[in-house]
Amino acid sequence: MIMVKKLDTTAPIIHQPPYQITYAERIPVVHIFRNAVASLYSNKGKGKPLYNSLCNFAELLFQSRNYLAAECGVYKGNCLIACAEIAREYGLPVHIYGLDTFSGLPELSETDKLYAIKTVLKKNSEMFSDTSVSEVQQKIEAKDLSKYISLVPGLFQDTLSTLPDKKYFFVNIDCDLYEPHLECLEFFYSRMESGGIIFFDDYHSVEFPMAKVAIDQFMDGRQEQLFHLRFGEEAANHTKAFIVKY
Ligand SMILES: C[S@@+](CC[C@H](N)C(=O)[O-])C[C@H]1O[C@@H](n2cnc3c(N)ncnc32)[C@H](O)[C@@H]1O
Repeated sequence: MIMVKKLDTTAPIIHQPPYQITYAERIPVVHIFRNAVASLYSNKGKGKPLYNSLCNFAELLFQSRNYLAAECGVYKGNCLIACAEIAREYGLPVHIYGLDTFSGLPELSETDKLYAIKTVLKKNSEMFSDTSVSEVQQKIEAKDLSKYISLVPGLFQDTLSTLPDKKYFFVNIDCDLYEPHLECLEFFYSRMESGGIIFFDDYHSVEFPMAKVAIDQFMDGRQEQLFHLRFGEEAANHTKAFIVKY
């Protein structure tokens, strides 16, 4: 029997180092986003980039005006808001698109049903439904972050095509299910900057193993390798994965 510690998804993430162990499950994405933004900032001559691969893409990006990012699976917006706050700290014109139904997970597909654990099969339509686009928008406005974030409500299959057909430097895919992962990868993979990051929150998910199935299927035969990252001790859902686009 797999033991899963319940994460308080309503608590805002303290996104500044020193990171708190309480937020262990959410620190990797915030940390990698911070590194990506810090690398852009460093390229302005205020320090040394952390990764050479990011250095080249930072040079490219500084020739354009906006640095685009996206989160696929926003729920209550905690991670999205933490990332926007980081962008503001660095004074960079980052814009993050936050895509979600804002009414909970869609119906499980036949593939999802093959892999989902019992609790997910039972609770499917209730999961992540205790949110709304207006609730998240209010939080964004209360933090004066409107110029950094656009919420895009609806199913990915309808909303991805409405996003700018431009290059993205960071995408967090945190949508649990099989087909939604493929839809997001199909849209964003070719639109990533060289050196841009696609972060996979659910690659090691205990509840949603279909995320790994979709990611492995999409990445099969592609050059990029997955990096795996954990903050704190080994525990269910603590390890995350990401790729750096060639
Ligand atoms: C784990 S939650 C996201 C958590 C969030 N990133 C955070 O930091 O708290 C997963 C979200 O993915 C969304 N989602 C899953 N499949 C979707 C789809 N096909 N279209 C839109 N949203 C989807 C769900 O509505 C749910 O809110």
